[in-house]
Amino acid sequence: MEVTNKYITINTHIEGAPQESDFELKAAALSLSVEPGSNDVIVKNLYLSIDPYQINRMKSFSSSQKTSDFAVGIIPGQAIDAFGVGRVVASGNPKFEKDDLVAGVISWGEYSVVGGATMLNKLDPMGFPLSYHVGILGFSGLTAYGGFFEVCKPKKGEKVFVSAASGSVGNLVGQYAKLFGCYVVGCAGSKQKVELLKEKLGFDDAFNYKEETDLKSTLKRYFPDGIDIYFDNVGAEMLEAAVANMNAFGRVAVCGVISEYTDKRKRAAPDMLDVVYKRITIQGFLAADYLNVYADFLSTTSDHLRTGKMQVLEDISQGVESVPSAFIGLFRSDNIGKKIVQIADD
Ligand SMILES: NC(=O)c1ccc[n+]([C@@H]2O[C@H](COP(=O)([O-])OP(=O)(O)OC[C@H]3O[C@@H](n4cnc5c(N)ncnc54)[C@H](OP(=O)(O)O)[C@@H]3O)[C@@H](O)[C@H]2O)c1
Repeated sequence: MEVTNKYITINTHIEGAPQESDFELKAAALSLSVEPGSNDVIVKNLYLSIDPYQINRMKSFSSSQKTSDFAVGIIPGQAIDAFGVGRVVASGNPKFEKDDLVAGVISWGEYSVVGGATMLNKLDPMGFPLSYHVGILGFSGLTAYGGFFEVCKPKKGEKVFVSAASGSVGNLVGQYAKLFGCYVVGCAGSKQKVELLKEKLGFDDAFNYKEETDLKSTLKRYFPDGIDIYFDNVGAEMLEAAVANMNAFGRVAVCGVISEYTDKRKRAAPDMLDVVYKRITIQGFLAADYLNVYADFLSTTSDHLRTGKMQVLEDISQGVESVPSAFIGLFRSDNIGKKIVQIADD
């Protein structure tokens, strides 16, 4: 059988903030059959994870492109690989059978042809909606869990600051930190998001960073006794302000620096004397570094979901055509929680 596969490409490398005109919706005939023994798997894509790191893959050069298979540069005109959940429609790979649910690296399109399938696994939904396996039970969840518990090494009662706190990773860091017994303040880019952090997710406090003019004094106001842990999703001046307010032996987990991704002039210059004299640890990390805690993460998080201790924040758009606007929205503070595009019905 042959279908028309619609998929998204970039027209050219993107060096600044992404725009609709940077993307193209293409269509091509795709045969839904594979050679036996070819190892190829054809997947009907169901849910796609929309992630900020992809912008660094779309640049003509970014240091991130050399670090892992996951982060290599995207070539204009070619299909864009991305994390997601789908269903196998044909398989020449003994690991998979037709109709298997899978999670892993698929692509920004209606179908993915996955050669070798080394970054694809069978998915047991464990009774949860499939979208959860793109976000809270997928890489966003592992990022938050590994970053908070393994990098930040929290102690009960410590004071935690999270930026992009209503986003996919940030909201989960805040929830893990509260469940663990920390005092948690988050920042986000709208009044609605700030209310949600306090009312729905149980953050101790939250503020809209877009309304603040002096972030160092803002953080002093929210943390009069200093910050023990800063979970950084944004970089630049927020990182500088957090370092200025850190306590001795504070830990900064640098998960991402989204405010720097689309603006070359923005770079953090934290006061390094603070780092020395307060003996602050600043550590970057990748979720993939913490696959050793994956089983622990999955069982803890699914227990929290079953007992209602964790809330799921999802922001789902429909159809492959909406992928570019969903992605662009990440850099415009549009999304509330995990940004996902549902490509087809389960
Ligand atoms: N290390 C890893 O393995 C790993 C894995 C996943 C994600 N990350 C990183 O973690 C961060 C969050 O990713 P996510 O997937 O959870 O995305 P997300 O937070 O769900 O979405 C992005 C959010 O970032 C905020 N933002 C956008 N532009 C900003 C700017 N110029 N200044 C401040 N905030 C801005 C916006 O929220 P508000 O403006 O409303 O706050 C936006 O909604 C990103 O830096 C990402 O690259 C790292």
